[in-house]
Amino acid sequence: MRFTNRVAIVTGAGGGIGKVTAQLLAAQGAVVAVNDLNEAAAQASVDDIRSSGGQAFVLQGDAADEDFAIEAVAEVMRSQGRIDILVNNAGVSVVAPAEDFVAWDRVLRTNLYSQFFWSKAVAKAAMIPAARGAIVNVASIAGLAAVPNQIGYVVSKHGVVGLTRSLAVEWGRHGIRVNCVCPGITATDLTTGPSGMDADRLSARIARVPLGRMGTAREQAEAIAFLVSDEASYLSGLILNNDGGQLALHSGVMMSA
Ligand SMILES: NC(=O)c1ccc[n+]([C@@H]2O[C@H](COP(=O)([O-])OP(=O)(O)OC[C@H]3O[C@@H](n4cnc5c(N)ncnc54)[C@H](O)[C@@H]3O)[C@@H](O)[C@H]2O)c1
Repeated sequence: MRFTNRVAIVTGAGGGIGKVTAQLLAAQGAVVAVNDLNEAAAQASVDDIRSSGGQAFVLQGDAADEDFAIEAVAEVMRSQGRIDILVNNAGVSVVAPAEDFVAWDRVLRTNLYSQFFWSKAVAKAAMIPAARGAIVNVASIAGLAAVPNQIGYVVSKHGVVGLTRSLAVEWGRHGIRVNCVCPGITATDLTTGPSGMDADRLSARIARVPLGRMGTAREQAEAIAFLVSDEASYLSGLILNNDGGQLALHSGVMMSA
């Protein structure tokens, strides 16, 4: 029960990595505020947590809307009196060749600006006054190297890496740790769901993972939970690629070679 008496916010926690992270934090004692754009999905996550004996509630809304983030954080402070943990997880991917890509606003707002909005809101209302807190930003290995046909995603996730380092440097003096998890290919709706990757693209990606498989949402959640736990009390500014070894593979060399 690493998170007893802790209050956590997880954005995009109606599905995938965010949902499993919320479940894991709640199973280890945290009260979890479950944000998602999709109200039914957020409610289903909360129901799952409660049916396992955990504590959670819904914060339905667009994580990329700064006014909503400020109001949601104020609501959590009114009801819980503290926020110890923030997991900036909500993210979207739009696949298109660079020469045709137009979705800058949606992708940058959801994947990058939202992480700044929530970090700022939580820091000002809860963590700076308490002189402690732990934030994990979910980026991607696309934050450390490029993936073809995902220019908005790649740029936004590189931004998340910079955001993490900036906030770690600025807020260390307030006792706030800020770290980043960069998942490799992970089985969620984003990859294997109805509007996920096509089968050829998916198998080409898996062929380049030294461990030979996709990661699971649980494996990403475990890394996130470690980084927000007291066991990671001296870790800040860390960019952790959790990718089955993918970034260690020399480019151009296929696994079968
Ligand atoms: N699955 C992967 O292979 C993979 C790899 C690298 C990084 N990531 C990152 O992990 C994070 C989670 O991805 P996932 O695979 O679990 O995705 P997912 O699509 O399974 O879940 C994302 C959740 O975020 C919600 N969401 C989307 N936009 C939102 C918004 N504006 N406000 C609030 N909620 C919103 C969705 O409704 C959904 O419930 C994302 O930041 C993603 O970029 C995923």
